[in-house]
Amino acid sequence: MIKYQCFGIVLLCLIVLAKSKTSNSKQQNVRSFPDGFLFGTATASYQVEGGWNEDGKTENIWDHRTHLNPSPIKDQSTGDIAADSYHLYKRDVEMMRELGLDFYRFSLSWTRILPTGFPDKINEAGVEYYNNLINEMLKYNIEPVVTLYHWDLPQKFQELGGWTNPFIIDWYTDFARVVFETFGDRVKYWITINEPREICYQGYGAASLAPGYNYSGVADYMCAKHLLLAHAKTYHMYDQKYRPKYGGNIFITLSAMWYEPANENEIEAASDANQFQWALYAHPIFSRVGDYPPVIKEKIAAKSAEQGFTRSRLPEFTPEEVEYIQGTSDFFGLNHYSTYYVVRNESVKGMYEVPSFFDDMDVIIYQLPDWKIGESNFTMYVPWGFYNLLTQIREDYDNPVVFITENGFATRGGLDDDDRVTYYKYYLNAMLDAIDDGSNIIAYTAWSIMDNFEWSLGYTERFGLYEVDYNSPERTRTPRKSAFLYKEILRTRTLDLEYEPDTNVMDIDEGH
Ligand SMILES: *[C@@H]1O[C@H](CO)[C@@H](O)[C@H](O)[C@H]1NC(C)=O
Ligand SMILES: *[C@@H]1O[C@H](CO)[C@@H](O)[C@H](O)[C@H]1NC(C)=O
Ligand SMILES: *[C@@H]1O[C@H](CO)[C@@H](O)[C@H](O)[C@H]1NC(C)=O
Repeated sequence: MIKYQCFGIVLLCLIVLAKSKTSNSKQQNVRSFPDGFLFGTATASYQVEGGWNEDGKTENIWDHRTHLNPSPIKDQSTGDIAADSYHLYKRDVEMMRELGLDFYRFSLSWTRILPTGFPDKINEAGVEYYNNLINEMLKYNIEPVVTLYHWDLPQKFQELGGWTNPFIIDWYTDFARVVFETFGDRVKYWITINEPREICYQGYGAASLAPGYNYSGVADYMCAKHLLLAHAKTYHMYDQKYRPKYGGNIFITLSAMWYEPANENEIEAASDANQFQWALYAHPIFSRVGDYPPVIKEKIAAKSAEQGFTRSRLPEFTPEEVEYIQGTSDFFGLNHYSTYYVVRNESVKGMYEVPSFFDDMDVIIYQLPDWKIGESNFTMYVPWGFYNLLTQIREDYDNPVVFITENGFATRGGLDDDDRVTYYKYYLNAMLDAIDDGSNIIAYTAWSIMDNFEWSLGYTERFGLYEVDYNSPERTRTPRKSAFLYKEILRTRTLDLEYEPDTNVMDIDEGH
């Protein structure tokens, strides 16, 4: 079926899409989600908590980065207070009840729990905060889905090299042990690490996220190796020691945009882009053979030799490590936002710094202006890319159980977020197409329940179903139109593409 395959020029693409819409029998206007399908929303500690130095919490790499002068953040903002969830967690849980969520995904601030980074000193106030949040959620049958690491590394560990230091494997696992001992009785869904690509490439290669190194082609690959080993070690620890006791699930969340060939001559280029951009992390865990994708190993080794390095800039895994990492995730946790076209032509020569991740990948990626809906171009609207990505994951990794841990749309604010409503409707529609084709998707998470600190973009991009008023001391949260859409989807367990949200009253349906 050609439904979402759009090769060639834009016009042809639009014709194909228009045609598939009318001719596709699956395109009913009201569609049901599978029985037992779970819906949630997500946040991350640094993006919402605030309380950056309260009650014994120490500095992490995002505190450090946002306090630099001059600030590398677009609007010079910080997460010092953010949405103030450190104090407003009861209101957050009330919002979860208003929406009717099955689960809520949040992350733990490492230095709030372990001020030295090590387990030598456990900060009771930090533990109490997360206990309060978890217990308040459980009171209303909202399942906690907890990310151990969502980017806020202890600053002290960064000064020792962070994810480029192999000791991180033990530092991280020690933190995970404290967390499982402390919260494992009540938390049944654990995400080890959020978005390895962003941690390693953006953090150590592109300098666009903390810690802000621009040592691409070297540091980003060192990071990748240690991150995968830290994840695997923690998975095995949970599997052997805590799963028998608590029976929970543990998995990793990968970020994956979709990379589409710009035309039928670019299939290999697009495949390389998908391999470098996300299979670098997926293949070692989810493929039958394990290890980095062969194409990545070959390309980086060849370029490294050409460039005069004595060994590949991509540090290898030993056969024991390959086996140790393989199969270490109960679900394929997926964060997805948008799509790029890919070409490989003469212009790629000299386009990127040498060496670098992009030079190793050796392709040009771009988006089409037509994909922009609304004011922001941060999350270009390409629902068919989501379908193609889910299809690729099903085909490449033996149809793994997929837990969609993030999907969402950025606006510049305002309660009438019709573009976000459109985005959610058609991305969920694309996900249902993949499910119809056999993809084993069990959960969907909207990013985000409320506006939050969007890393290097500060508060300039808004992702919330609820708007946060950063000018009010109470950080007042107000539901947007999309919140009413999401609530209706969760209430009916159906997707009605014609549904227009009624934005009058946001209340809590009793019985949930
Ligand atoms: C990389 O970062 C260093 C120090 O932060 C800076 O001096 C250098 O210009 C940067 N290089 C590039 C290519 O951005
Ligand atoms: C390569 O592709 C890009 C993106 O489509 C285009 O802008 C550029 O002109 C192409 N270069 C050559 C030499 O064809
Ligand atoms: C989005 O806009 C920014 C600035 O307005 C620009 O630098 C960037 O290249 C744009 N991105 C895309 C994908 O068009």
